[in-house]
Amino acid sequence: MNNYMKESRLLHGGDYNPDQWLDYPEILAKDLEMMGQAHVNTVSVGIFAWSALEPREGEFHFEWLDKIMDDVHRMGGNVILATPSGARPAWLSQKYPEVLRTNAKREKMLHGGRHNHCFSSPVYREKVAIINRKLAERYGQHPALLMWHISNEYGGDCHCEYCQENFRTWLKAKYGSLEALNKAWWGPFWSHSFSDWSQVASPSPLGESAVHGLNLDWKRFVTDQTIDFYRHEIKDIRRLTPDVPVTTNFMADTMDLVPFYSLDYEKFAKEVDVVSWDCYPAWHNDWETTADLASKVGFIDDLYRSLKGKSFLIMESTPSGVNWHPVNKTKRPGMHLLSAMQHIAHGSDSNLYFQWRKSRGSSEKFHGAVVDHDNSTDNRVFQEVAQVGKLMEKIATVKGANKQAKVAILYDWDNNWALDDAQGFAQATKRYPQTCQAHYRYFWDRDIPVDVVTPNYDLSQYDLVVAPMLYLLTETNMQHLADFVKGGGRLVSTYLTGIVNESDLTYINGWPATLQDLFGVKVKETDVYYPRDHNQVVMADTSYSVKDYAALLEVLDAEVVARYGEDFYAGEAAVTKKTTGNGTAYFVGARTDNDFLVDFYQEVTAGLNLMPPLVVAGDPEVSVQMRTGSKGDFTFVMNFSEMTKTITLAREQVDLLTGKTVPTQLELRPYQVCVFQRKV
Ligand code: GLA
Ligand code: ZN
Repeated sequence: MNNYMKESRLLHGGDYNPDQWLDYPEILAKDLEMMGQAHVNTVSVGIFAWSALEPREGEFHFEWLDKIMDDVHRMGGNVILATPSGARPAWLSQKYPEVLRTNAKREKMLHGGRHNHCFSSPVYREKVAIINRKLAERYGQHPALLMWHISNEYGGDCHCEYCQENFRTWLKAKYGSLEALNKAWWGPFWSHSFSDWSQVASPSPLGESAVHGLNLDWKRFVTDQTIDFYRHEIKDIRRLTPDVPVTTNFMADTMDLVPFYSLDYEKFAKEVDVVSWDCYPAWHNDWETTADLASKVGFIDDLYRSLKGKSFLIMESTPSGVNWHPVNKTKRPGMHLLSAMQHIAHGSDSNLYFQWRKSRGSSEKFHGAVVDHDNSTDNRVFQEVAQVGKLMEKIATVKGANKQAKVAILYDWDNNWALDDAQGFAQATKRYPQTCQAHYRYFWDRDIPVDVVTPNYDLSQYDLVVAPMLYLLTETNMQHLADFVKGGGRLVSTYLTGIVNESDLTYINGWPATLQDLFGVKVKETDVYYPRDHNQVVMADTSYSVKDYAALLEVLDAEVVARYGEDFYAGEAAVTKKTTGNGTAYFVGARTDNDFLVDFYQEVTAGLNLMPPLVVAGDPEVSVQMRTGSKGDFTFVMNFSEMTKTITLAREQVDLLTGKTVPTQLELRPYQVCVFQRKV
């Protein structure tokens, strides 16, 4: 059993950069003392420490890291040890300029910043292999080593000659012949057929990027090439430390808080032992409610948990504000605990921070940290962090417990890329991830557990699958959805579905026959609205407003659930339902407001037992999530509002966080969270 399996605590701590403080032994000594006070049990070390580890080529300094590893072990803590490839020393860029990235305009980048290396460069790979091997050899058996943190927040792409060559090799493997590639990419359009492999190059703004098949394949290649680099990074690590789990920290896209755009995490998740991610919601902003934002966090937690179908880690979060939002607001009292508990409620086994101690210099010197420039434990942020650490100890038995859901919402990276690239519809209103989040909202508001999975996933375990806007839908996945309905499932699909195949080529003969058969309708046209255009759908005498998109449907053998209220298609079907055996397929032709989704999903979910948690708050702003594991059920009740809320419990319960019995009329203060356990 490895240290990670043996560890019975939830992980609390985070990015620790002692390499910035080597001239301050008194600070380093104080760190350990303060970590104890903050209930920190885990630190992530060495993420950007390459210049401290190898200040000159081939000259290695591990003594400082030896001491940190030993010190952390002595305090009973764990180290998540990073490979330092996220940023490199200047000597490396200076001596081997090929390691520097080339941007899409074919401009060679200069040394500076971070996360800007070429994933193909043989020299970079060689240098990374050396330092990674040395780390694995030196610390592989160290008792403090918990897990490997490979690089940091992989992202971006490189357009250098090495990468172009690798792209061509990737394409050759995929298509076999240039003829096949030209067919898949619709080559004759604007004379974009290639007659020699050497003509094929990555998309560039200088070349307009009009070939959508190329754009899509480039994005897929970037994911594969990043994974290839990651595999290279872990080669010796796996060989030398086969039992130590490996992760790399995933991201989300902010400010809107949607899943990370540019890497296909479905593929990447297969390569890691544990999914971990970095989450920085802009709490207390002035454009959405706390519950609005919390539901988006919940969506991403549920997606990243579902990638491996097991608990995950929050690798980074901030104890207060960040430094890179347009406005870096600090968390109000109580929000830090609530936010940490929300991740745990959705399946996280940690709450880790960026960062332990605020740096004195450079761009992150004002980023929130556990230890501020005052170097004191005597301030609100430190106290709240310590409180979170203490409370995490009280609910440690939740570690490893999973969530169970009967509802799945589908999310697909390929689809997001293809739809984003499509020139048509309305660029500003496509909003695919946000639409998935809007549908998720119905379930989050009602405390119905949801998995967020990709269309390739095994759907048979679900009662209801919600698949908004699958513009790119392969024939295999169409069949997959049809099989789900045939098996008795309920399926919801929407406008902008089933338009292109995996090559971003539209289906011949219009809307695919498999979908016509499945939904009992045919999409004839898709109307696109200006922001001030309007329409309604009318369902059971109630009108709901329509915005952005309206599909015009020909009804084949479906029942009409709602009809359009206006325009030249007034009275025509807008929402339909087709029953096949025990299964039902709904097609929502229009983008509506939330009122419609509420009434619609009430009908869709009627008669299903969607396994709500043991407590149902009955208040959208009070979120209830449940994890189930070998130690029983853990129910998290969280008030995502600035008001006191009263909810009714079926019986008195003990709140694990306070150890006190709460009455059946439970009053929750703003941002308060309670955790109840039902033992098995
Ligand atoms: C990312 C990085 C960290 C740090 C934080 C700041 O998540 O991984 O190194 O820069 O952002 O929020
Ligand atoms: Zn490159």
